[in-house]
Amino acid sequence: MCDYLEVSDSEGNCIRTKRYQGKPYVDIFVGNIEDHLDRLSCMEVREDDTFVLSYPKSGTHWISSIASMLRTGTSDYIGSPHFLDYNEVDFLEKLPSPRILASHMTFDRLPRQVREGKGKVVVVSRNPKDAAVSLYHFLMKINQSAFKGSWDGFLKFYLDGNMFYGSWFDTFLDWERTLQTYKGDNIMHLLYEDMKQDLLSSVTEIATFLSVTYDVSYLKEVTNKCTFSTMVKTIRGDVKPQDQGFIKVVSNDPLLPIYRKGEVGDWKNHFTVTQNEYFDKIYAEKMKSSTFRFRFE
Ligand code: A3P
Repeated sequence: MCDYLEVSDSEGNCIRTKRYQGKPYVDIFVGNIEDHLDRLSCMEVREDDTFVLSYPKSGTHWISSIASMLRTGTSDYIGSPHFLDYNEVDFLEKLPSPRILASHMTFDRLPRQVREGKGKVVVVSRNPKDAAVSLYHFLMKINQSAFKGSWDGFLKFYLDGNMFYGSWFDTFLDWERTLQTYKGDNIMHLLYEDMKQDLLSSVTEIATFLSVTYDVSYLKEVTNKCTFSTMVKTIRGDVKPQDQGFIKVVSNDPLLPIYRKGEVGDWKNHFTVTQNEYFDKIYAEKMKSSTFRFRFE
């Protein structure tokens, strides 16, 4: 069964999570977690479902927008994806196709039919320094945030794994294992940093993976619609129904707090030299078994 857990330190930093089997989850995760995971496991999957998996703040909304434009053939912004984590299965099952379903959980928590090859899974990863900065700003912006405290306190919780969905490192290593061992062909892995470098190539790669065929002009249109600056402009004037409740719980800014800077290397504006050295030490230890190298700038 799930418990709520509040972790605090002597400097007044505090984080509130739901815990299930020792792992922290966001407090808006459905119900007691266990029942929802059971229901998700049996959820009916459709061939044209797209599941976007990520550790928080790695570009989930970005990929979801691209996937939606590629699945529907219309380059309209659809708003946030529907998260498996925060929505009842009954609701998810009634959504029209093509569904873009996101989650911050790992592959083993997806519906059984996905793990047997139905639907498509796009995993996106981002270097953990920028992901940490992004999550900190997000939590500072929302009312009734589950974290209260300083950037330094946040970073310690982040590195200790006292963070929603556990540590970035455990999550990434789990995905790396899945990508190496999973025999199906319905999963792809993208990097936020690669998308920033060459978005058209990433859009083309996603289209190929989703088995949708368009001429280059449409792929370019999707690319242009999904640059950071265009998305921000669009979203400012067009809050979608599924985001209106979310907007109400955040500040008065009509821009979803999801969209902040959209850059690689913003961590340099936040990390002190000491924090960076400490982070690098932990990174080297935790990632020693990984063959993967992230780019931080
Ligand atoms: P920053 O806070 O660094 O700006 P998620 O969707 O997983 O919550 O990730 C949010 C992060 O992705 C935010 O990072 C957000 O600005 C960034 N992002 C969203 N759309 C983007 C885009 N089109 N281009 C680049 N970054 C984008």
